[in-house]
Amino acid sequence: MTTGLIYFDNNATTRLDQAVLTAMLPYFTELYGNSASQHHFGLELAKIVEQARADIMYYIGGSDGKIIFTSGATESINIALKGVAFEASVGKTKIVTCATEHQAVLDTCAYLEQIGFEIAFLPVDSMGLVSLAHAEQIIDEQTLAVAIMLVNNETGVIQPIHELARLTHRQDALLICDATQAIGKIPVDVDELNVDILIFSGHKFHAPKGIGALYLKRGMKLAAHMHGGGHEYGLRSGTLNVAGIVGLSKALEIAIKNIEQNTMHIKQKRDLLESKLLSIQGTSLNGHPNLRAPNVSNISFPGIDANTFISEMTYLAVANGSACTSAVFEPSHVLRAMGIDNQAAFGAIRFSLSKFNTEAEVEEVVSLIDKYLLRVTPIH
Ligand SMILES: Cc1ncc(COP(=O)(O)O)c(C=O)c1O
Repeated sequence: MTTGLIYFDNNATTRLDQAVLTAMLPYFTELYGNSASQHHFGLELAKIVEQARADIMYYIGGSDGKIIFTSGATESINIALKGVAFEASVGKTKIVTCATEHQAVLDTCAYLEQIGFEIAFLPVDSMGLVSLAHAEQIIDEQTLAVAIMLVNNETGVIQPIHELARLTHRQDALLICDATQAIGKIPVDVDELNVDILIFSGHKFHAPKGIGALYLKRGMKLAAHMHGGGHEYGLRSGTLNVAGIVGLSKALEIAIKNIEQNTMHIKQKRDLLESKLLSIQGTSLNGHPNLRAPNVSNISFPGIDANTFISEMTYLAVANGSACTSAVFEPSHVLRAMGIDNQAAFGAIRFSLSKFNTEAEVEEVVSLIDKYLLRVTPIH
């Protein structure tokens, strides 16, 4: 018997933290002005925004540079990739990325390819890791930028960003890092990683949806592709979402201050879930066993279709390893790039936990899956 809903889909989005909501509330009802206005309301809010910018910079380890507020990672990715491409109006035209990137990066690259940029892909191994030897060959003197994520959204695999930044900078190119699934889950220090641009989204770490940011290293120049009032250093025109910015900063503060304790809590539950599920005959882990964010487990179950599983077990929030394109289910591009066969990809379920999940929920999920497998694959 299930006791209710279980949410193990925290890589899709997370529950807003109560403390974040409390910090945001005054900015809806009392301090509701426009931060660009020159009267009392605007001036006070501009100070709040600048404080949030400084705090966020501190929490991601930046000693210098800028924070640009956006609506989330998709927008940040567009601003970064198009901004870099359009700024380089003459000269280099090659952008290197990876087949396992999020669709926001892949589709933006596809658009840039249509208008004349060359896109090259770094391959990954069977565990989802980029090989530095291949990267060394592919990132060459023609390369303008390299766009690689820190933590993969489907598998949790952590890419060697620091080393990739070294190979990138050696060719005088820029490293754009999508850290959407990393922030709040693993330590992120932009100076140590040596990235030129870092991208993140609040709703992945208990801030609200609709607020994100990008960090730009000092001296980084981007061409604006959104025009208007010239907000955010001219890169993202439009009235600032002050409540969201306060929420983003508060959520980041909470995540960073509690990262060790939360990692221990989440990893213990993730590992328990994983060890129980992997003891089921025929199951396999997708991704690297160790070089992985502590909250994700992507497991292939033999003989099941994850999409059917999810649509039958709607009270259990998990994600599957396929995407519906033009009414046809395709295996996940991430799992396919890792060389995982279609059957295993269609049977892949992603469990992504947060600090709000409990051991009792893990036990319940294991029991639900056991019963499901007994029903649909009687030989199990
Ligand atoms: C790695 C990664 N990049 C980008 C995004 C897009 O984020 P948003 O929905 O905030 O635009 C996601 C969301 O799932 C993600 O996981």
